[in-house]
Amino acid sequence: MVLPELIKPIFPVSNLEQVTDDQLARFAELIYEQTGIRVSPQKKTLLSNRVRRRLRKTGIDGFEAYYRHLRQLRPNDPEWDAFLQEITTHETYLFRDESQWDWFRNDFLAQCAADARSGRAARSLRIWSAACSTGDEAVTAACCIADALSNLPQWKIEILGTDIGIGALEQARSAVFGERAMRLVPPAYRRRFFNKAKDALVWQAKPILTDMIHFRQHNLMDPLREKTFDLVFLKNVLIYFDTDSKRTVLDNVRAAIQCGGVLVAGAAEGVADLIRDFQRVQPWLYRKPTK
Ligand SMILES: C[S@@+](CC[C@H](N)C(=O)[O-])C[C@H]1O[C@@H](n2cnc3c(N)ncnc32)[C@H](O)[C@@H]1O
Repeated sequence: MVLPELIKPIFPVSNLEQVTDDQLARFAELIYEQTGIRVSPQKKTLLSNRVRRRLRKTGIDGFEAYYRHLRQLRPNDPEWDAFLQEITTHETYLFRDESQWDWFRNDFLAQCAADARSGRAARSLRIWSAACSTGDEAVTAACCIADALSNLPQWKIEILGTDIGIGALEQARSAVFGERAMRLVPPAYRRRFFNKAKDALVWQAKPILTDMIHFRQHNLMDPLREKTFDLVFLKNVLIYFDTDSKRTVLDNVRAAIQCGGVLVAGAAEGVADLIRDFQRVQPWLYRKPTK
């Protein structure tokens, strides 16, 4: 909610005005406290532009007033979400990092199916897409599962997608994807797993995919408090965190993976040194010891 005394009829911050160094440091600290993300001093113009958009939307009178406003809000206030949507990147698309999805289909799911057939494991699979943005990763996992597991109705599949951004999650729940997000989806998967209205530019995921997935808000800096997972995707998010925040996130993620389960990380996210108790299978793939 915007405080009445902060609302001015005329927008007072010009397009050229920037936050001061001191304001930048204070905004950065606030963002860090809330998300674990480090905003560097080089991001002054970017931060100024993004805060300016919120000033326009809220009518709040300047950077300082907006900072004070944000400071006194509860973390779950919609304005916090709107602000974080501005300063975080939500870039994602289906089948991002194709070689990881080849591994997921040909190795991971093939092994799960073989273990189930031989009676070594139950027909159940729990997957967490952490920092899922608009849900593309979760839907990609569902496509691969629907394709790889021939007797799908006999399986109990649960895919959880979480993100800090409420707006991103609303989009994820709609399960609608544009051409750009769909560009790597194989044609056979498009036909089987998505509907496209004639002349429409978007694709709607079918219930065979969406029935496996649910989305909810979660901050990676907090423990998840769920039953453990067989596989966790944690990609393209830790790059924005400093080492202390990464350590907190990885402690939370480690606790959410069951013994023998795996973590699929972004190749450039620097997790190796922070997850030494896991076996490093690939620069992006880590297995939790069985006990
Ligand atoms: C670039 S997207 C990554 C999407 C997907 N994992 C992928 O690799 O395509 C980064 C996401 O991280 C989310 N994020 C940033 N900080 C977070 C936090 N502390 N907790 C949960 N999600 C966070 C952002 O809201 C954004 O949607």
